[in-house]
Amino acid sequence: MTLILGIETSCDETAAAVIEDGHKIRSNVVASQIELHRQYGGVFPEMASRQHVIALTPVIEQAMKEAGARWEDLAAIAVTHGPGLAGSLLVGVNMAKGLAYGRGLPLIGVNHIEAHVATNWLDVATPGASIPPFPLLALIVSGGHTELVLMHDYGRYERLGSTIDDAAGEAFDKVARLLGLDYPGGPAIQRAAEGGDANRFEFPRARVEGRYDLSFSGLKTAVLRQVQKYDPSLERPADRLPGAEAAQAKPKLPPQLVADMAAGFQKALVGALIEKTCLAVQDFAVNGVLLAGGVGANRALREALAASLKVPLRMPPVRLATDNATGVGVVGYWRWQRGQFSGWDLDVLPRLKLGE
Ligand code: KG4
Ligand code: ZN
Repeated sequence: MTLILGIETSCDETAAAVIEDGHKIRSNVVASQIELHRQYGGVFPEMASRQHVIALTPVIEQAMKEAGARWEDLAAIAVTHGPGLAGSLLVGVNMAKGLAYGRGLPLIGVNHIEAHVATNWLDVATPGASIPPFPLLALIVSGGHTELVLMHDYGRYERLGSTIDDAAGEAFDKVARLLGLDYPGGPAIQRAAEGGDANRFEFPRARVEGRYDLSFSGLKTAVLRQVQKYDPSLERPADRLPGAEAAQAKPKLPPQLVADMAAGFQKALVGALIEKTCLAVQDFAVNGVLLAGGVGANRALREALAASLKVPLRMPPVRLATDNATGVGVVGYWRWQRGQFSGWDLDVLPRLKLGE
């Protein structure tokens, strides 16, 4: 039995998990900073890293305790070292280095995007569906990333396309702000859209040159134009106002209008993701699709993917789609099996990519 401790601090969740043999969750502890950042309408980087400093030690201690693991039971310590907020990543990486050095354990730096994809290997992902053989297609949709990546093998990725402007989660967050909904915008829009008519507003689907690329900034602007029709006082896009000011600048819109716009926006965004995913599935004859990232929690997206794909689909459960450390432990296991360890010079890479 191999136990890996995973640590994740790339954005606004302080997280640690103990993973057994790369697929079983022994513990999964997430301390979310959402309440702290909500007043600013988004993540405030300085505060995020300071909060990680406060929360990380108790989070790791709790993860070890819940796993019933002693330090000598661990095979390695894996930590997210990019992409993400530099200051936040530094807290996790330095903690992992200190613990690994002090306990004489191997250190493994993990790509945050790969960790999202790896949550599909956990026993709790899409119960009953086994993982099809490679090549697989990963659709990664989070607050910072929107990418279609071919997975040829463990650790071997080929990026097919990505967003040329806003990430899918970023679009949810910005449009939520325009509609006067709370941060984070994804869950708020999903909730609002439930009572909405997705066909009242026809929001455009961007034409993008790259066959597998996506674009969401035009969609966001289209929502803004509609909002301005009802509330002309909203002259500037709320997402251009500085932090707290933007969070306060809530438009006054009738609830049904908000619901209809949320539903129309969600439909357009999900439609674009499905179109490009299906194209890539066809072109590369993959054996399955792996959904990953915070927007992967979106019910409309999950249902549309399940209905449109002609190959098996794996999805992490909703609670593991948003940031946590379980995937870090899974990737850590893949690396441990291959003896691929990081040196003590492991550094944070805020712009790290997957598959380039
Ligand atoms: O993966 P994640 O937790 O952090 C990053 O690595 O960015 O993703 C966070 C993003 C946020 O933009 C949030 O609004 C979005 O995921 N999100 C959702 C839902 N839950 C979270 N978007 C749409 N529908 C949801 N249910
Ligand atoms: Zn993430």
